[in-house]
Amino acid sequence: MSYEIMEKNIKRAQREIECGKDKVKDGKMRQHYHFMAQTGWLNDPNGLIYFRGKYHFFFQYNPYHGFWEWMHWGHAVSEDMLHWEYLPLALAPSEAYDNHLHGGCFSGSAIECGGRLYLVFTASTNEGDGFEQTQCIAYSEDGIHFKKYEKNPVLTAPEGVAKDQFRDPKVWKHEDTYYLVCGASRGNRGQALLYRSKDMLQWEFFNVLAESRGEWGSMWECPDFYPLGEKYVLSFSPMNAGDHTAVYFVGDFDYDTGKFDYHVSGEMDWGLDFYAPQSFQAPDGRRIVVGWSNEWEWMPQWKDWGPTYKEGWCGFFNIPREVRMLEDDTLQFLPVEEMATLRKDLQSKGELAVMEEDIGITAGDGVSFELMMEIDLVKTNADKLELDLRCGNGKKTACIFDFKNAELRVDRTNADGWSSGVSRSVMYLKGKKVLDVHVFSDQSSLEIFTDRYRNNHSNNIFAADEQNQLKIRAYGGTVFIKEMKTCGLKDVNRF
Ligand code: FRU
Repeated sequence: MSYEIMEKNIKRAQREIECGKDKVKDGKMRQHYHFMAQTGWLNDPNGLIYFRGKYHFFFQYNPYHGFWEWMHWGHAVSEDMLHWEYLPLALAPSEAYDNHLHGGCFSGSAIECGGRLYLVFTASTNEGDGFEQTQCIAYSEDGIHFKKYEKNPVLTAPEGVAKDQFRDPKVWKHEDTYYLVCGASRGNRGQALLYRSKDMLQWEFFNVLAESRGEWGSMWECPDFYPLGEKYVLSFSPMNAGDHTAVYFVGDFDYDTGKFDYHVSGEMDWGLDFYAPQSFQAPDGRRIVVGWSNEWEWMPQWKDWGPTYKEGWCGFFNIPREVRMLEDDTLQFLPVEEMATLRKDLQSKGELAVMEEDIGITAGDGVSFELMMEIDLVKTNADKLELDLRCGNGKKTACIFDFKNAELRVDRTNADGWSSGVSRSVMYLKGKKVLDVHVFSDQSSLEIFTDRYRNNHSNNIFAADEQNQLKIRAYGGTVFIKEMKTCGLKDVNRF
């Protein structure tokens, strides 16, 4: 019976998508190459997995309109993470444990087990005694149609953990045991709880993998845990931890004790729009991470969701990034190499000496483009370099490389009449000869990667098409650019 309710709710949602998708397709602000939904609201990446020859992306989804509500799981498949085919929704609210307008099927992950595809997700409901979050399972024979496990939920909040702050299970297998890490809040401090299971259905608590002592916020959303080389990486999105949107810890993990001993921490992205990232392993062994390009209304720099709801949608994913580790155990987040297949009209501008006067730069159509440059820090004697992107109509987004104060700022206070806020990061310049900069611009976003892909800023802007100029200038001296390259990028998103 309950299988039929989910079926019915999925069919209803699919009809809604059919009716709304042309409006979204014709929208002016829609992205050209970032992953987005056919209609409605999208947030976290869920259940990312390479399964039977295809990349599967699931996502937090309200197909009905451009605002968060009644969470479903959307589903799409791809062979290259760029061209997507949309499949029927994987999960819809249907049970007492998840059928609530302000709840539903919350974030989770996927794993292949005995030839089936399993989803582990958080069910969120309110039956009159406050919101309650529990961990549930759904499975599928074909990777398209899912059934919720009849004995759900498989995990409820342990004693001491707030029952509405227990969510986002990320599952993996090691030897003959399954593990999952789940976000929690205990005594108003964020935690990553570790569970284990022999059969994916019965789970036992194993250990607290890591926890906040106050410095890392009150609740950890979307924890992720994975091996990288000899080390393990824990990442999560902390609530009430200032401007942190997604952080990582690198350390050593012991499967006998369930203890994680970390010695490096860092920001996955310093921008205002990178949240709830989830990783998975590609068939060639790469560790790939995908974030939701937005922030929540409870975050310090949030303004609003932008104008795209008028076009019937809201939300997209950041560019998938490959995670690599450097000698000092810090992490790099590189746009996946597949992105290079989108390039058109790649131009090398050679060397540039930038002074006080504006230099105009051409890059694709000025809206959807890529820009790469290497700043020669040995020859440069300026205090500051400003790269203005999406300029026009008296507006711009300024990327300020402030050498004097060793700070990178992306300032969108005059970006589009809509967005606001400045994202900031420290630039480690000591002993460096070159600073690499890599920019991806799409219709509604800017992603800036620097310092060997360790110092990255993702920010959404909702600039008009006429804002298609790029300018660069230096203050207090000359900036020498060893090489600059630009290109346009293909539009692969007109499904
Ligand atoms: C993170 C999050 C998750 C939750 C989901 C609800 O962005 O708040 O913790 O499962 O979104 O849509």
